Amino acid sequence: MTTGSEPGLGLGERWADALVCSKTGEVGELDRPAFLSPAGAPWLVRYRLDRSLGEAFKAALAGRPWSLWRYAELLPLRDAEGRVDLGEGGTPLVRLERGVPAGIDVWLKEESGNPAGSFKARGLSLAVNRARELGATGVQLASAGNAAIAMSAYAAAAGLRCRVAVPVDAPTTVVERCRLHGAEVIVAGSNLAESGLELSRREGEFWELSTLKEPYRAEGKKTMGLEIVEQLGWSLPDWIIYPTGGGTGIVGMQKAFDELEALGLLSGPRPRFVAVQMAGCAPIVRAFEQRLDHAPPWEQPESRVWGLRVPKAIGDFLILRALRESDGTAVAVEESRIGREQERLAREAGVLVGPEGAAAMLGLRSLTEAGRIEAGQRVVVFQTGHPGNYG
Ligand SMILES: Cc1ncc(COP(=O)(O)O)c(C=O)c1O
Repeated sequence: MTTGSEPGLGLGERWADALVCSKTGEVGELDRPAFLSPAGAPWLVRYRLDRSLGEAFKAALAGRPWSLWRYAELLPLRDAEGRVDLGEGGTPLVRLERGVPAGIDVWLKEESGNPAGSFKARGLSLAVNRARELGATGVQLASAGNAAIAMSAYAAAAGLRCRVAVPVDAPTTVVERCRLHGAEVIVAGSNLAESGLELSRREGEFWELSTLKEPYRAEGKKTMGLEIVEQLGWSLPDWIIYPTGGGTGIVGMQKAFDELEALGLLSGPRPRFVAVQMAGCAPIVRAFEQRLDHAPPWEQPESRVWGLRVPKAIGDFLILRALRESDGTAVAVEESRIGREQERLAREAGVLVGPEGAAAMLGLRSLTEAGRIEAGQRVVVFQTGHPGNYG
């Protein structure tokens, strides 16, 4: 069943062959239900790649529609032609002429046009599709916003039951949108951990699709990296600035660049990743500054930038490793600047950004003011969700 508008992409075979534990390297079977590895760490999907495959893959892309499914060989679906497809991915990369620091070549990866209004569509499309083809009848997760909306939409399209738990202060728009897609919504707890606990107490066969607790959301987010490379003419930017909660995007994009390199389609220096978080919930920034390998939980998360109110990321060590290996950094921004930054970007650059996108742009400004990002450098900034998703 293809529910999207672009069936018959002429997709090649999948190159995925196993799961690998991101902590121990243990290898696991691909086509069975998978959540965390025996070490309690995220599984990542392994692909059989070598340089002889690269040019034919690149040539095949030319004939495929512009959605994330164009990269089917680098995705884990067994039956890509039979996928549930709402038109995810293929978002614009927009060069900003105005409203950005002088002399910097700034490109906005505008993700709000995805189904359900955010980049969460990418990961949840993959996770729901895999859950469906591996036999799930229901899916669940805890989220304060976009992940809940996106999972509800894909579960509806896939005909799966759906249950989400949101904290009591989550925007009412989020609750309404999930219910509109037919999800059961549990409003419980004052943060994600408490909502998740409430979810785990409920009965029923629901597969858990929380960030990096299953292997496939990172695969969907990986396509952001694949798209950037293609959109920049098979080259890389100097910096990627990413508003970071669970960090799947950073983990996924690093994986995308590794895979393109293994295919012989990329070489040269990697982009430096920047994780941007809110001052009221910045576990990754704190751990990066303290040179820790893991990020201790943030004690009292406070932020209305919902996507970034994540006190503990299960893939913290993977995010921190990606920041260090790429010679990147982590920046915290003040809550009070978000609204003004959204207005400024609307007025000066003509773009309507969500609060997470505004945080990323503030990260760009502070790194430029500090002289870390220099004139002439190319920077991709992630604008991850539509502001309307929060009401
Ligand atoms: C709009 C938006 N931006 C950024 C994030 C953080 O994304 P990640 O979990 O990949 O770090 C979220 C997560 O909920 C989000 O909804």
